[in-house]
Amino acid sequence: MEISKIPSPCFVLDEARFRNNLELIARVQREAGVQIILAFKGFAMWSTFPIVREYVHGATASSLHEARLCFEEMKTLAHTYAVAYLPREFGKVMAYSSHITFNSLTQYRRFRKKLEKAPHPISPGIRVNPGWSPVGTALYNPASPGSRLGEPVENFRGKLPEGIEGLHFHTLCESTSFDLEKTLGYFEDQFGKFLPGLQWVNFGGGHLMTREGYDVDHLIRTLRAFKSRWPHLHVILEPGSAFAWDTGVLVSTVLDIVKNKGVKTAILDVSFTAHMPDTLEMPYRPRVRGASAEPTKADKYQYRLGGVSCLSGDFMEEYAFEKPLKVGQKIVFEDMIHYTMVKTTTFNGVTHPGIAIWRKNGMLDVVRRFGYNDYKRRLS
Ligand SMILES: Cc1ncc(COP(=O)(O)O)c(C=O)c1O
Repeated sequence: MEISKIPSPCFVLDEARFRNNLELIARVQREAGVQIILAFKGFAMWSTFPIVREYVHGATASSLHEARLCFEEMKTLAHTYAVAYLPREFGKVMAYSSHITFNSLTQYRRFRKKLEKAPHPISPGIRVNPGWSPVGTALYNPASPGSRLGEPVENFRGKLPEGIEGLHFHTLCESTSFDLEKTLGYFEDQFGKFLPGLQWVNFGGGHLMTREGYDVDHLIRTLRAFKSRWPHLHVILEPGSAFAWDTGVLVSTVLDIVKNKGVKTAILDVSFTAHMPDTLEMPYRPRVRGASAEPTKADKYQYRLGGVSCLSGDFMEEYAFEKPLKVGQKIVFEDMIHYTMVKTTTFNGVTHPGIAIWRKNGMLDVVRRFGYNDYKRRLS
């Protein structure tokens, strides 16, 4: 990627890296005999769906709009799971879905009759909560005490409601295959008695198989072992992050450098809260190209990186650079493709970064620019 050719601010996906991830995902799918679908909540850059479709078929949607995007741009019906369905939207959700997973027994009871009027057969499922997750951050832990996500086993009183064809669980986040293996232990202990009567199980997302060091062969063995215990079940995985992990950057520019009591802040044309919200929510320190996120006293050129919104906390503590920063200089945030574009806002009316693909032939394809109307149309 030639950063100098990229307009600022801009999210840029690197097609070659993206295809590497897709190849790995397709290999797991093939060798483990499972179906892997893309979770739009993590990555929904639909200009890339023609590429995605070369490797996997299908997506999981968590709302009517994601289900429609799946139908229109992935050219297939969605596996839809939503925390709750709106009665006025449910007819359309059915029109765009092949599978509908309900978050609760009450939601299933409320909508099950409607499934009979669907324009095509829909396979209903229930999300279950096995009550264990390796995720330490409460904000991202679906199995925290009292969680609203999925039914715990005791709520079933020993039997599944009639008509349910699949179970769905989602308890992982940026997790390993060993976490999945452990989760399956909890899942099968609690819900194994229901499995003989079902057609499919969905292991949710959080399988970060494209991260360096992830034991892909162990994942394949774990999935095959599950399938040998339950050969009649179709197994589905729906990662989001794994598809877009480390496949591109957010390019920004230094607009100003301000000083206050010895603290220097480089003000950028992007915002952490509006464009990289996970850096504040998780929180985590993004990698910045050519800079150290852990400066020492010996580092001479240290700068906070400041967002362009007026939220006081819209900044990152000091990074160390090799040379003094200059106004006009580009700052590149690494790994900014998943859970960014899907979560951005136009807070403060700040300019939304463009969206581009760095094609594998070395050409830059700017697929979207944003302007005043994008800001205005979200308001009234
Ligand atoms: C139900 C469900 N499925 C899939 C995913 C995707 O997870 P990830 O992007 O961590 O793989 C999520 C993420 O929150 C989720 O809630």
